[in-house]
Amino acid sequence: MNERLQFFQEFLKNPLNVGAISPSSPALAEKMLAEVEADSKHIILEIGVGTGAITRILQTKIPNPNCYLGIEINEAFVECAHKEFPELKIVCGDAGEAEKIHAETRLGEVKYIISGLPFASLPGEISQTILSEVDKFMSKGCLFRTFQYVHGYYLPPAVKFRQRMQEKYGKVRRSRVVLKNVPPAYTLTWQT
Ligand SMILES: C[S@@+](CC[C@H](N)C(=O)[O-])C[C@H]1O[C@@H](n2cnc3c(N)ncnc32)[C@H](O)[C@@H]1O
Repeated sequence: MNERLQFFQEFLKNPLNVGAISPSSPALAEKMLAEVEADSKHIILEIGVGTGAITRILQTKIPNPNCYLGIEINEAFVECAHKEFPELKIVCGDAGEAEKIHAETRLGEVKYIISGLPFASLPGEISQTILSEVDKFMSKGCLFRTFQYVHGYYLPPAVKFRQRMQEKYGKVRRSRVVLKNVPPAYTLTWQT
């Protein structure tokens, strides 16, 4: 099935979890991966893989498949990601259990978290659980990057998410707006 159509169908079934009407563009994916240089001992954890819009660019930038772990909660998306990226480890699971999932894979230390999760629309308690997992990786030294849409930037959950991150990890590094994305978005980075 056409990627955009599948994405939109899953959005209609679960708008808060999917959080977007369309997959990220190659321009946003490139921005999400700027300065990310993984190796087998310092891997990338992607949470909220979706249809693999970021994964597609990411796989061209890693030296081998052991540099990557993906977690995606939606079974239909995982099925499609397994078909397109058979060499990559993409687990159907909850980012709220990321540490346990990562430990089970025996892959290297997580040095980069690339998050497609829609913190502006996820229920607050789910976001908190996921961010507690993020904290575990950040405490060992890690870069966390996500994106937020320009139109939702000042919605209370989006602001609350940034405040929570800023309290823990300092001032956000925000990119210029990526206009070649529907809708336009910023990337947000924190590093420990
Ligand atoms: C805005 S989409 C981003 C998809 C893709 N990364 C992209 O940029 O096109 C958010 C994704 O996060 C997934 N997701 C939501 N909650 C999740 C959770 N608790 N654990 C893992 N994935 C989750 C959704 O199913 C969806 O695929």
